[in-house]
Amino acid sequence: MSHSKESDELVFFVNGRKVIERNADPEVNLLFYLRKTLRLTGTKYGCGGGACGACTVMISRCDPVSKKIRHFSVTACLVPICSLYGAAVTTVEGIGSTKTRVHPVQERLAKGHGTQCGFCTPGMVMSIYTLLRNHPEPSTEQLVETLGGNLCRCTGYRPIVESGKSFSPSSSCCKMNGEVKCCLDQEENKPENKSNVCTKLYEKEEFQPLDPTQELIFPPELMRMVEDPLKKVLTFHGERTTWIAPGTLKDLLELKMKHPNAPLVVGNTSLGPDMKFKENFYPIIISPARIVELFTVTNTNVGLTLGAGLSLAQVKDILADVIPQLPKEKTQIYRALSKHLRTLAGQQIRNMASLGGHIMSRLPTSDLNPILGVGKCILNVASKEGIQQIPLNDHFLSGATNASLKPEQVLVSVFIPVSRKREFVSAFRQAPCQQNALAIVNAGMSVLFKDDTDTITDLSIIYGGVGPTTVSASKSCQKLIGRCWDEETLKEACRLVLDEITLPGSAPGGMVEYRRTLMISFLFKFYLDVLQQLKKRDPCGYPDISKKFQATSVLGDFPLTLPRGVQSFERVDPQQTPQDPVGRPIMHHSGIKHATGEAEFCDDMPLLTDELFLAVVTSTRPHARIISIDASEALALPGVVDVVTAQDVPGDNGSEEERLYAQEEVICVGQIVCAVAADSYTHAKQATEKVKIVYQDIKPVIVSIQDAIQHKSFIGPEKKLEQGNIEDAFQRVDQVIEGEVHFGGQEHFYMETQSVRVVPKAEDKEMDIYVSSQDAAFTQEMVAYALGIPKNRINCHVKRVGGAFGGKSSKPGLLAAVAAVAANKTGCPIRFILEREDDMLITGGRHPLLGTYKIGFMNNGKIEAADIEYHINGGCTPDDSELVIEYALLKLENAYKIPNLRVRGRACRTNLPSNTAFRGFGFPQGAFVTETWMTAVAAKCHLPPEKVRELNMFKTIDRTIHKQEFDPKNLIRCWEKCMEDSSYYSRKKATEEFNQQSYWKKRGIAIIPMKFSVGYPKTCYYQAAALVHIYTDGSVLVAHGGVELGQGINTKMIQVASRELKIPMSYIHLGEMNTATVPNTIATAASTGADVNGRAVQNACQTLMERLKPIISQSPNGTWEDWVNEAFAQSISLSATGYFRGYEVHMDWEKGEGDIYPYFVFGAACSEVEIDCLTGAHKNIRTDIVMDASFSINPAVDIGQIEGAFTQGLGLYTLEELKYSPDGVLHTRDPKQYKIPSVTDIPEELHVSLLTTTQNPKAIYSSKGLGESGMFLGSSVFFAITDAVAAARRERGLAPILAMDSPATPERIRMACADQFTDLVPQIDSKCCKPWSIPVA
Ligand SMILES: Cc1cc2nc3c(=O)[nH]c(=O)nc-3n(C[C@H](O)[C@H](O)[C@H](O)COP(=O)(O)OP(=O)(O)OC[C@H]3O[C@@H](n4cnc5c(N)ncnc54)[C@H](O)[C@@H]3O)c2cc1C
Ligand code: FES
Ligand code: FES
Repeated sequence: MSHSKESDELVFFVNGRKVIERNADPEVNLLFYLRKTLRLTGTKYGCGGGACGACTVMISRCDPVSKKIRHFSVTACLVPICSLYGAAVTTVEGIGSTKTRVHPVQERLAKGHGTQCGFCTPGMVMSIYTLLRNHPEPSTEQLVETLGGNLCRCTGYRPIVESGKSFSPSSSCCKMNGEVKCCLDQEENKPENKSNVCTKLYEKEEFQPLDPTQELIFPPELMRMVEDPLKKVLTFHGERTTWIAPGTLKDLLELKMKHPNAPLVVGNTSLGPDMKFKENFYPIIISPARIVELFTVTNTNVGLTLGAGLSLAQVKDILADVIPQLPKEKTQIYRALSKHLRTLAGQQIRNMASLGGHIMSRLPTSDLNPILGVGKCILNVASKEGIQQIPLNDHFLSGATNASLKPEQVLVSVFIPVSRKREFVSAFRQAPCQQNALAIVNAGMSVLFKDDTDTITDLSIIYGGVGPTTVSASKSCQKLIGRCWDEETLKEACRLVLDEITLPGSAPGGMVEYRRTLMISFLFKFYLDVLQQLKKRDPCGYPDISKKFQATSVLGDFPLTLPRGVQSFERVDPQQTPQDPVGRPIMHHSGIKHATGEAEFCDDMPLLTDELFLAVVTSTRPHARIISIDASEALALPGVVDVVTAQDVPGDNGSEEERLYAQEEVICVGQIVCAVAADSYTHAKQATEKVKIVYQDIKPVIVSIQDAIQHKSFIGPEKKLEQGNIEDAFQRVDQVIEGEVHFGGQEHFYMETQSVRVVPKAEDKEMDIYVSSQDAAFTQEMVAYALGIPKNRINCHVKRVGGAFGGKSSKPGLLAAVAAVAANKTGCPIRFILEREDDMLITGGRHPLLGTYKIGFMNNGKIEAADIEYHINGGCTPDDSELVIEYALLKLENAYKIPNLRVRGRACRTNLPSNTAFRGFGFPQGAFVTETWMTAVAAKCHLPPEKVRELNMFKTIDRTIHKQEFDPKNLIRCWEKCMEDSSYYSRKKATEEFNQQSYWKKRGIAIIPMKFSVGYPKTCYYQAAALVHIYTDGSVLVAHGGVELGQGINTKMIQVASRELKIPMSYIHLGEMNTATVPNTIATAASTGADVNGRAVQNACQTLMERLKPIISQSPNGTWEDWVNEAFAQSISLSATGYFRGYEVHMDWEKGEGDIYPYFVFGAACSEVEIDCLTGAHKNIRTDIVMDASFSINPAVDIGQIEGAFTQGLGLYTLEELKYSPDGVLHTRDPKQYKIPSVTDIPEELHVSLLTTTQNPKAIYSSKGLGESGMFLGSSVFFAITDAVAAARRERGLAPILAMDSPATPERIRMACADQFTDLVPQIDSKCCKPWSIPVA
């Protein structure tokens, strides 16, 4: 940061240390500054847009008026450093470390197993820490609000919540506090009643108490800075931008007059993302943060005047204070605002975003503007010319210039009136999920009645999410004035509103029919809400609403809840020595380092002096010829060192199927065409915009599976499996159904984006690759091929990976090779870290699937014949698509014996980014189709789905479709235990009773069994190696070929070594894995990592113990150190490699048979949900999971895998939706648009139980690999939703939907619950317009 103009000094504190920045650049954000300038890398980058919480830090400020210190969490990625003048920043490093003292929050998160990959952990720590600074004994409600802005892709949140809850005084027993009974009070859950069952995953007694006196104090120097009598204007000149922060309103207005086009930046949550993602550029930015007038609050009997600079969190607190002081009828607007302020964004954004910034941004989905608009609020604005009042009405909201602020004006405050007598105000919003998600549609509605009547004298309806701005139904409202509040008026209102506010079929955001349905569904909710309030005031004056249709059931939004539950597992044998850790819930071996921010990820590594940054230019065309690439303008930019293209690849530019750099042709949007290497990422990124590529489009462009089938565009031949004789069977059955079901893809959304560092060495063309990869050897191979050098020159290091889920199997190899070519060309180390939107664009995800089925069955539900066909969307290159389709076929039968079954499958080649491995690998898609037709058969036979499932389930030792023998005993045990644990039948009855009482909200319940086959189809994929050294001080170093992805493999390997060597775990160290220590590794995937590497570590340890045996028997009372030293003295090698050859497996596709899988994981899950038929929202009430983990090496790790996978499955089946344009452009490229489950999406009750006393002789210590299987159990939530939808449709006299597509989003649920409102919305004729997005399955 060295700029020519003279800047003021930027003074702030970080972790108690003063920072003076003399060249503060307004374009630099706090996250960057912490990580790159101060080298505080605990704070992580996850999205750069404020939506994931990975970068959460605490800011403390002294309020200039009250002199009180305010602590609040922020997302550092959106905080310009210039805004920090006078602030104290606390990062994860500032609250505790392993070198000093670990903070109780850090300790509890780690010991409570709230960390897996650890990438989200510092953000979680800082959110909870900030909460505790303000509320040392937080309530559950405060915890819900606090964690809503932090995403975790690994854990499923339950253990994180527990760690947070442990600070609340009400957290006495386990996790089941709150309104319901504590789990330990329930007879059956008392551990002593089940002697071999344990429910304690950690020792709460070990936790240090929270001692607020130990926290950093607010620096007195900053208190003094707040006084600042001179209030001088601060100016910071950056490379391109100048930041000006006046101290008085007068100076601010003068500045605004001088620079009318300069934006005022307050929270930077609107401006910041626009500057970053839309590349809006401002040479001057003005900060009004020091102007006291913008933070003033005035409360009078006519209303509240709130300073425009107040944060939304402050507004929420002010409203919470004011509301109880006023009569209810006066607080209609305040309550409506309060309601939305709970769910608007996450806590961090609410802490940063200002009221003025929110209003002035006029975002089309603003949650507050519709309410402020219908509430007739007034904007108090000022300029040098004077002050003015502007109504915050529909003209203002539509952006009309004559109703808006002039460029030189500043919004000083907002007047929010108390509601008038007989005025009613409501607010509605429907988002993809409950918290931290932009609304799909929202609305503010107000009505004023003539005294003591229900005659409308004023009506306002403003919608968000149905146009490019917030829109008012003003004409409709005008026409309804004078009407009475009755059903006729409602009908008329719906008709008028739909006529007035239209959305073209091609409207951005899609979901046109759904959005229009929501508009009138909200109107209906408003109608009922007002009717109910009128009736309360005058019980005889209005018609009764039948209980079933009552407003309470219709209006109540689902509560925001936190997950709680019991996790039970088999207790270790009492005879096992206390030192032997196998079978015990040991904390993740990096847990504490994750929580203190000390765990180093790829991009946390220090910069080398000549290190360059890489940014890539990607194709904007789905299928085109590259005519030319002109990089001259890019090369001329400051800091740019080189532009790398296919021509610079010295060896192989990938394969013909999958190029590293596009060569002659591009085959999808997002394909890497070239890369810019520069001295900073910003320079590299800016230069990518200047590379000019001329394309010539090529036909056809294939986007969907249907397109591919039509063009016969496939990857590999059709695969087929068959048993019995389906033709014959179809002749014999009572009924036949045929159908198809579409299954959407999924983004991995590992919290750490794809990351690689390439460091060329001076000699012999050697290179070190530091990469976030599941497959180090493949990465090594790709780099070696690209550079045309032998593999022995490339050492690939993987310390840890911040989540992978299959997405870091093949892609890191390609990206590392891209970076290695750049390193080779420039001769410099290269850092290549994908930004979230590039990661989502470039790398594919889970394969979307189209399943078609023809099922023959008897009237009693017995399925005799099934003819199934699968097509998956493989994207533009083969990657693992052929394997995925094979797995989908091999595993499709799930838990069922279908005597006559034929399944065929094919991977389609399309012009989408190439899809790849993803947890479950075809099974979550394929088995979903099976459960779909299972449910459909039940519906056709008028039988309960669980009965049809039971009837068709494997019962005795049998063979799979690929003719592998297996025993389903534990499948049945899981099913029966799940039935029992979930009290399935009594809860099903309760669900039915609920549904009879409630028309607009319905409940559903479903139980799903699972047979998951673990592993790969080839013996050589199971081989694993390890290297164990014993040093003469007795310490042990273990290396193995598995990668720590968060799944706890290293923890388990230490447990294995500890048992085998009979030494405490503290003697054992496990550093990074690399290809020099353990060569020719196999990808850590397919749930087998711990199985096979455990065998290799065991083998090495056993070799060493064999060597030590004579020494030990000679001196049985000696110590480990004695024996080791004696061995050294006797020249006995203390180093051994271990090897596991792999399981014997084979598959013959010609014959369609093979013993492919070493063993099966069985399980069952029962889920209950409630849906809102008017909005499509759903609430996950409870899930019970029973899993056959055999003997778990580490129950905490394994339960963590089950819960994490289940949560990812819940996202897959109900929430996560990738949207592509008809031209194959991915719209959903960040966590604002692509929602993964957040803390309130988890079932309120989540119980996991591992089946006890089971054996698995195939795997080490009779354990099982559990990495993937839980994913599919998320489908129980999907089928509970379809059960609820079926109840709604039955009641409405509609035919059942036999196959609902996945995911069951609010849109799908709402549109499936068809009613008088959906009927009013005209259907879009898809032929008449080009839709914004299309399904690709
Ligand atoms: C991750 C994320 C999630 C979000 N989720 C939601 C959500 O669920 N619902 C929702 O409604 N919104 C949501 N938002 C949007 C958020 O509410 C707005 O970005 C925020 O309120 C803007 O306030 P700000 O202070 O950050 O504005 P800034 O970005 O600082 O400024 C925005 C604009 O307002 C102007 N401005 C600011 N103050 C004044 C003033 N006093 N006078 C004149 N002009 C002024 C600036 O010139 C600028 O053009 C989300 C945003 C993010 C980043
Ligand atoms: S990186 Fe800042 S919120 Fe995601
Ligand atoms: S532990 Fe939360 S993202 Fe991995």
